Amino acid sequence: MTTDSQISKLYQMLEAAQKAGGEDRLAKHKAAGKMTARERINALLDQGSFQEIDTFVTHRANSFGMADRKPLGDGVVTGYGTVEGRLVYVFAEDFTVLGGSLGEAHADKICKLMDLAMKTGAPVVGIEDSGGARIQEGVNALEGYGRIFTRNTLASGVIPQISVIMGACAGGAVYSPALTDFVVMVKDSSHMFITGPDVIRAVTHEDVTFEELGGAMAHSTTSGVAHFAADNEAQALETVRKLLGYLPANNLEDPPYIASKDNPGRLEDKLNTILPSDTSQPYDVKNVIKAIVDDGAMLEVHAGYAGNLVTAFARLDGAVVGIVANQPAVMAGTLDINAADKGARFVRVCDAFNVPIITLVDAPGFMPGVNQEHGGIIRHGAKMIYAYCEATVPKLTVITRKAYGGAYIVMSSKNVRSDLNYAWPGAEIAVMGPDGAVNIIFRKEIAEAANPDAKRAELVEAYRSEFANPYVAAARGYIDAVIEPKETRTRLINGLRMLANKRDSLPTKKHGNIPL
Ligand code: HXC
Repeated sequence: MTTDSQISKLYQMLEAAQKAGGEDRLAKHKAAGKMTARERINALLDQGSFQEIDTFVTHRANSFGMADRKPLGDGVVTGYGTVEGRLVYVFAEDFTVLGGSLGEAHADKICKLMDLAMKTGAPVVGIEDSGGARIQEGVNALEGYGRIFTRNTLASGVIPQISVIMGACAGGAVYSPALTDFVVMVKDSSHMFITGPDVIRAVTHEDVTFEELGGAMAHSTTSGVAHFAADNEAQALETVRKLLGYLPANNLEDPPYIASKDNPGRLEDKLNTILPSDTSQPYDVKNVIKAIVDDGAMLEVHAGYAGNLVTAFARLDGAVVGIVANQPAVMAGTLDINAADKGARFVRVCDAFNVPIITLVDAPGFMPGVNQEHGGIIRHGAKMIYAYCEATVPKLTVITRKAYGGAYIVMSSKNVRSDLNYAWPGAEIAVMGPDGAVNIIFRKEIAEAANPDAKRAELVEAYRSEFANPYVAAARGYIDAVIEPKETRTRLINGLRMLANKRDSLPTKKHGNIPL
């Protein structure tokens, strides 16, 4: 029989674990407007679903006063629960306990959770709020990170991994989130950096604040490290719930299907008039996406980064799709280094997790410029090609307007293993735009003409009617059908149904060597 005193000791220990960092540190943390680790977990998971494990784990360090300081849980809360009824593993670092710093036992708890997630095939969400490697534990702390990085890497492409940064994430600690599929940051209260402002000031004499250096805006707009920047902690956790709704539990499952009330046969007249009559004018491709997908709903990924390419999850007749679309409203939709990185990463996430890819093309080509060339647009652009060529999920493409040169090939053209390629009637598909093309191939004729401008205009018009249309590509079968824009939704849904049982594979190899 279990005695009352045994039961009461258990509850006393559980109570102590809740305040393992002490009342003062807890009060300071709350005063800063932050949720505790357990509050964060409860806000993420379905109400009452959290099952905590390893609550009583403590560290085994003795140096630097650690022998008398063994807080229960060792600065990280771990366990599992559900999001919309689906199993999710979660760990949340507790900054009130030893600054959330990562020692041997702290790392062991995270590793145990990740091993369970791999065995059972379910996502891991890590909520990071930590001063990094626990200084008092020396090499044991560093090896702890090594164990986590290995698991992040081996789990990559098997189970979804999402990192939420809700405080400090400094030094080597940043590499665990960077190895996961998605990073969510909170504006004004989360920071990621390899070396902080003080070290930077001493070494490079640059003056920078925490926020400027490694805040949510810096990483979601400039570095591209963060995929989402939330206004507050609650919004960050809500974003994770939404994101999980588009992802399968693991690579052997399909993403969750949600029956849609939006008519799969819906014709969208406004798509017939959505393009400006002047083909050099911009428009917002997000309006095209919203008109096509179920209920106009999409979750943009990397919304603040490389705005010239839009990447988003959405649904078509209830099935999850990943959308990759040139954005003519930003830099005319040209592809640059950052857009290529963003697109390649998204395509690979979709492919790993069985999400069909819809590509909307309207791009005049790759971005010219010394910065781009010297920044390595060749190897970055190659990434995008590699990602599309390698992806075996259903791939459907719609060329809405311009598909010139490299942009035509890269953006899921037929011979980079796309399955179904559509074009709108005004699509322009050629090696380059009419003006550039006639200046090169008719340079002599234009120079020798009595009226060079009139000659150029005449040749541009001839080029346009010969090449800048979808019918040359359609005659070769590179375009499977030229469609009226208003039919786009229903054509894509029918295509997805046709491709539902697609089987494709890669040659047997240890692994490929993606350009980086
Ligand atoms: C041990 C740490 C710690 C750490 C913080 N603490 N970081 N303890 N190891 N790495 C403890 C503090 O001693 C303090 O304990 C408590 O956490 C809160 O820290 P404060 O400094 O009082 O809080 P705050 O002013 O909010 O500053 C937070 C901070 C700062 C910006 C994160 O603590 C900081 O700069 N920490 C070091 C960050 C860092 O450089 N980490 C990299 C480590 S190297 P008390 O008892 O007073 O409450 C690394 C390499 C890993 O991570 C390599 C893997 C490849």
